[in-house]
Amino acid sequence: MGRSSKDKRDIYYRLAKEEGWRARSAFKLLQLDQEFNLFTGVNRAVDLCAAPGSWSQVLSRKLRGCTEKGEKGESGEEVKIVAVDLQAMAPLPGVTQIQGDITKVSTAQEIIRHFEGQPADLVVCDGAPDVTGLHDVDEYIQAQLLLAALNITTHVLKPGGTFVAKIFRGKDVTLLYSQLKLFFDGVTCTKPRSSRNSSIEAFVVCQNYSPPKGYIPNMSNPLLDHSYDVDFNQLEGPNRVIVPFLACGDLSAYDSDRTYPLQLDADKEYQYTPPTQPPIRPPYQQACHLRKKNLLSREDAPSVCPTQSQDESEPNAEST
Ligand SMILES: C[S@@+](CC[C@H](N)C(=O)[O-])C[C@H]1O[C@@H](n2cnc3c(N)ncnc32)[C@H](O)[C@@H]1O
Repeated sequence: MGRSSKDKRDIYYRLAKEEGWRARSAFKLLQLDQEFNLFTGVNRAVDLCAAPGSWSQVLSRKLRGCTEKGEKGESGEEVKIVAVDLQAMAPLPGVTQIQGDITKVSTAQEIIRHFEGQPADLVVCDGAPDVTGLHDVDEYIQAQLLLAALNITTHVLKPGGTFVAKIFRGKDVTLLYSQLKLFFDGVTCTKPRSSRNSSIEAFVVCQNYSPPKGYIPNMSNPLLDHSYDVDFNQLEGPNRVIVPFLACGDLSAYDSDRTYPLQLDADKEYQYTPPTQPPIRPPYQQACHLRKKNLLSREDAPSVCPTQSQDESEPNAEST
């Protein structure tokens, strides 16, 4: 695929580059904020699974002000942002990076250390595993990642705080909702316009953190345990947890499933813009290297080799 054909196909990918975002995912968080007003009063925020960093960019710009120079939030308090990922990420103004695993308690402890014992106001998680294409496996791993993010959140979030996370709306989604509802007064499932309809991805916005009385945070509870032979989507009455679903994002925003022409604006000629900040060492790097050298067998070869792009091609799941 040529460099400009990707721009034509994916309007948010193109806009991300034009506006200086590291990934098209930035628009998802921006559209979630439009609907839920996520950043008001937030001085300490955690971005879990942050690389290559577009959500951290949004946090940095929104919480520290447009100039990217200010250090104080609306309340005059110092703004602190911590970004965690397995992958290394290029530096961002006002964002402290932890290269670590969100399933580890040591990561929670490092976040707390950075906040000097103060709890976070907001935790966001756009975590996604490397997709295998086996949908059941992908959904299961994504659910585990979400629960790991919830566990870390119970260690670091203040009562009343907000947690936002990517969720795959697969067959166990009801169980996930019920686990989230144990900890939050309000749980809403929402789909920003920048998230493709063709993708199983959505986001949960969990508001007013209020853990059960006496709850002591740990890293193994709650767990999505498949040894229970129950189809949670078949449950009825009070046993069934249904959370509200909201399509979010201004209706005038671009439709992520549509193809737009390169010449969007009659007065402005299309010019190719290179990606703002490609991942430093992406997991697909070796595959790209082998492919260049013609060492990758045909069946294994990815249809797109995104060495220079922020956008991995993932079956069924949304690319960043
Ligand atoms: C879709 S990308 C995140 C994109 C990011 N929100 C942005 O806007 O640039 C998913 C990230 O999850 C990270 N990830 C997956 N499992 C993780 C884990 N156990 N701990 C930390 N990060 C993880 C991956 O390394 C990957 O960078």
